[in-house]
Amino acid sequence: MAQCKNNSNSIKMEGGSPLCGSVRIQGSKNATLPIMAACLLIPDKCTLRGCPDITDVACMGRLLESTGAVVETKASHFQTGIDIGINAGSISSCRLPSRYVKAMRSSVILMGALLGRVGEAYVDYPGGCVIGERPIDWHLSGLEKLGAQIWTEGSRIHAYVDELKGACVNLPFPSVGATQNIILAAATAKGTTVIKNAAREPEVTVLCDFLNKAGADIVLPESFWTEGRLIINGVPLSRLHAAVFDMIPDRIVAGTYMFAAMAAGGNINLENVPIEQLCSVCAIITKMGGSVVCNPERKTLAISVPERDKLKNMDFVETDVYPGFPTDLQSPLMAAAAIAKGELTIKESIFSSRFKIAEELRRMGADISINGDTAVIRGAAALTGRNVIAHELRGGAALAIAGLAASGITTVSDISYINRGYQDIVGDLRCLGAKISYE
Ligand code: UD1
Repeated sequence: MAQCKNNSNSIKMEGGSPLCGSVRIQGSKNATLPIMAACLLIPDKCTLRGCPDITDVACMGRLLESTGAVVETKASHFQTGIDIGINAGSISSCRLPSRYVKAMRSSVILMGALLGRVGEAYVDYPGGCVIGERPIDWHLSGLEKLGAQIWTEGSRIHAYVDELKGACVNLPFPSVGATQNIILAAATAKGTTVIKNAAREPEVTVLCDFLNKAGADIVLPESFWTEGRLIINGVPLSRLHAAVFDMIPDRIVAGTYMFAAMAAGGNINLENVPIEQLCSVCAIITKMGGSVVCNPERKTLAISVPERDKLKNMDFVETDVYPGFPTDLQSPLMAAAAIAKGELTIKESIFSSRFKIAEELRRMGADISINGDTAVIRGAAALTGRNVIAHELRGGAALAIAGLAASGITTVSDISYINRGYQDIVGDLRCLGAKISYE
């Protein structure tokens, strides 16, 4: 149970002790948001079980409600999170309120769903984390390929189509969001859409699974896994129907806690872990000297770091599209690398400005230099507790990891960023034995 999370602006922790305990991993944020958007396409009630109770999910709920959909949440029958009922039986508006669109970049994928459902969408240019340039040009050109007319009215985007028609969309880069947006628009388009160079992240395949369960006809051929070829055979809207769907666990939250164990030392067990999605992370942890034991049947993963003084950095890690090392875990890795021996070079290949955490980590004693898309972490630093500020979601969580590794008290403020993606980071880390509380 979150302790006063909603009224808190900061978290405080006393670092320096190893972690020990078990925690169940929440449902995936990045899978839940597009699947909630997909519910707009379906003129019937869908139930999404085991979703994370986070502010981005609440924001997507408000956006759906603004269209006339009915959104109900209740505590999940799973051990954590919420079940969300979404009934988009009648849609009365395609104008999304600026306040919520600007709060969250993933609001842009509602364009594809609204075009599919009512043929029109008004949205602002979306907001999101401060992690560099995040254009939406491939979203817009993909929707245009399917026949949408798109123009700008002040700071708003207006999209309109009489009838979406299947097309071949060749993405310049396998963008997760653009792939999802095009899938949503293509699901009820007339004819077949082929996306070439589609993103292969689990958050894309699970969106296809959900839509197929609700009556869509999306095919992932062998060539999807090798070259990102995705086939969407459009079906009439009337073919889509109610579905109950169990959310997948959050690979990024699991990875965050794996790096917390590396930074603080100890033995932790994670339950409800998408093990097969974390191969790149397990490989790095093992190479750094941590021990990982997976039980795929029980979906559990144990990490043991008996002597964290013996951890050593790999020479080089580059973020990459799935199944490569995820950009969302780059900051948690940086926090753990600060205390391991040796020098790690991280190349950030996905986003242009994702090293904001480095400055805060330096204030805690880390030795990090940044040059463009590359960070060099000279490890074996003795981190010291400080007052630090979260500037974005994953960087904020990484500061909590650094605080657990540091001697003395660390306070991380502006935790609203962290609450966007972690339903109860304090509760979870307490289950793992951390001395941490909301302030
Ligand atoms: C999603 C995830 C985010 C993760 C990212 C990469 C969600 C809600 N967010 O973000 O957590 O970090 O995937 O795994 O699922 N780009 C363009 N033009 C476009 C679209 C993207 O230039 O129209 C660029 C982006 O600026 C970025 C790269 O493509 O440099 C990858 O972005 P993308 O895969 O689209 O990430 P998101 O879907 O925004």
